[in-house]
Amino acid sequence: MKKNLAVCSGIAVLVAICVSMSVYAQDDMMTLEHDIFVDRQRPAVLFPHMLHADELGIDCLDCHHVYDATGENVWDDSEESDCTACHKLEADGKTMPAMKAFHTNCQGCHKEEGKGSVTCGECHPRTKQAPKETH
Ligand code: HEC
Ligand code: HEC
Ligand code: HEC
Ligand code: HEC
Repeated sequence: MKKNLAVCSGIAVLVAICVSMSVYAQDDMMTLEHDIFVDRQRPAVLFPHMLHADELGIDCLDCHHVYDATGENVWDDSEESDCTACHKLEADGKTMPAMKAFHTNCQGCHKEEGKGSVTCGECHPRTKQAPKETH
């Protein structure tokens, strides 16, 4: 009986941890579904922004940029954050097209680090979670 109780309280703790983790993940999740992709071929991308910026401690400037005339990245959080404000559907000869920009940024780092999603279905999951924000 005592043993059962210990097992049960162990399970209760685990359940509590799992629930709080999924609540955090849910709150954190950004849905990337830019409307420039008029004929979408893949489901929207779920992107845990805080996981990257806070927990993994990746510099904002690793992903966000606004280049000044000298080519320096002068981005701060008052600047443009929507990637598709600059990266368009088609190549314009100056700025990398949007899909390539996303894939270079996201997959590029995951491959380099040997961590994070690299297959299509991991980033473009078929079953969507309820999105908190839509981008
Ligand atoms: C590391 C994450 C990641 C991986 C892996 C990835 N993508 Fe993407 N992909 C993105 C992001 C982010 C966007 C931009 C989504 C948006 O805002 O709509 C995108 C956009 C796209 C788009 C343009 C939007 C659309 O649906 O038409 C296509 C097509 C696409 N990806 C196909 C693929 C294919 C095929 C693979 C596997 C070979 C793949 N992606 C792997 C992150 C990823
Ligand atoms: C791993 C890449 C990455 C890192 C690191 C990152 N961001 Fe982002 N951030 C994004 C992407 C992708 C979007 C969505 C852009 C879009 O919709 O086109 C975004 C969106 C945003 C937005 C606007 C969307 C919103 O509603 O929140 C802000 C503000 C922002 N980021 C600030 C920051 C700050 C500040 C940091 C550093 C503390 C940071 N980001 C770190 C990739 C990143
Ligand atoms: C204010 C305009 C602007 C915004 C917003 C912007 N970019 Fe860019 N981006 C550029 C320019 C200009 C270049 C340099 C020319 C090129 O390679 O396309 C560039 C280059 C890139 C490159 C090539 C490598 C590099 O870093 O130079 C990637 C990848 C990229 N952007 C991804 C993103 C992602 C992801 C976002 C959103 C989080 C974003 N960009 C937001 C203008 C922008
Ligand atoms: C500079 C590096 C870097 C960039 C850029 C980056 N990621 Fe990641 N990402 C990581 C790392 C490292 C992990 C692994 C975290 C872990 O497993 O501990 C990860 C994990 C993930 C995961 C899995 C999260 C989980 O709960 O296991 C997703 C989904 C993801 N990234 C999506 C994206 C998307 C979408 C983009 C582009 C908008 C992106 N990442 C850009 C470094 C990056």
